[in-house]
Amino acid sequence: MKMLHFDNQTIWYDETLLKDDPMQVFSPEFWQQQGKVIGNAQGRGTTWFVQTQTIQAALRHYRRGGLFGKLIADSYLFLGWGKTRSFKEFDLLKTLIKAGVNVPKPIAARAVRSGLIYKADLLSEKIPNAQDLFSILIKEPLPAELYQKIGQEIGKMHNAQVNHTDLNIHNILIDDSGKVWIIDFDKCLYQPGDAWKQGNLDRLKRSFEKELAQKTIHWCKAEWPTITSQL
Ligand SMILES: Nc1ncnc2c1ncn2[C@@H]1O[C@H](COP(=O)(O)OP(=O)(O)O)[C@@H](O)[C@H]1O
Ligand SMILES: [Mg+2]
Repeated sequence: MKMLHFDNQTIWYDETLLKDDPMQVFSPEFWQQQGKVIGNAQGRGTTWFVQTQTIQAALRHYRRGGLFGKLIADSYLFLGWGKTRSFKEFDLLKTLIKAGVNVPKPIAARAVRSGLIYKADLLSEKIPNAQDLFSILIKEPLPAELYQKIGQEIGKMHNAQVNHTDLNIHNILIDDSGKVWIIDFDKCLYQPGDAWKQGNLDRLKRSFEKELAQKTIHWCKAEWPTITSQL
């Protein structure tokens, strides 16, 4: 990993994956001007999918959710470069890849400081030919085999002691070869012990139930144990 440090800005990047200018890649306009935006997805904000000189990537600007988010949309309290959300997610993704969990490769992270606050961005590998679980379940039910694979992937993440504090059906992707991927590690953390693991599962289960209540997804309660049977 390489690092560029200035008074008010730090950029971390993987020099084997990033051949574009690290100073430019966090700006959506940089990609738009070159006609290299290949799509986008809406979450808390917009995730831009871009064609870099090496691989396709997902560019995300860190944003808060909820009411608080409307007041200080994308600003966080600065407590040191190593404690910024973008650096921590970059670092966690590297740990997860080493542990053999299917997560996007981190390409570059940035934090920009102004006084007490900072703003942050992350560029990571776009998972090719993948859809999130919510988008799939709107259209059709998922075969039991894939629920098993979801359970296995969560199990690998938990064995690596990573607490995914926002595990939900929008943050699980499945690609066209049937591989399961976990994304969106903002605010997630390395945490010893087991006590917190059930909390991740409860949150995921609630996200199925919430969409089911609105009758939007092809899912039934009996499918839940297929996930947990793999843990
Ligand atoms: N690396 C990626 N590969 C493919 N799709 C992605 C990737 N990262 C994000 N997405 C898509 O963008 C959506 C929002 O991204 P996410 O990282 O979950 O941000 P947030 O939930 O904070 O808005 C995801 O639900 C997914 O559909
Ligand atoms: Mg998300």
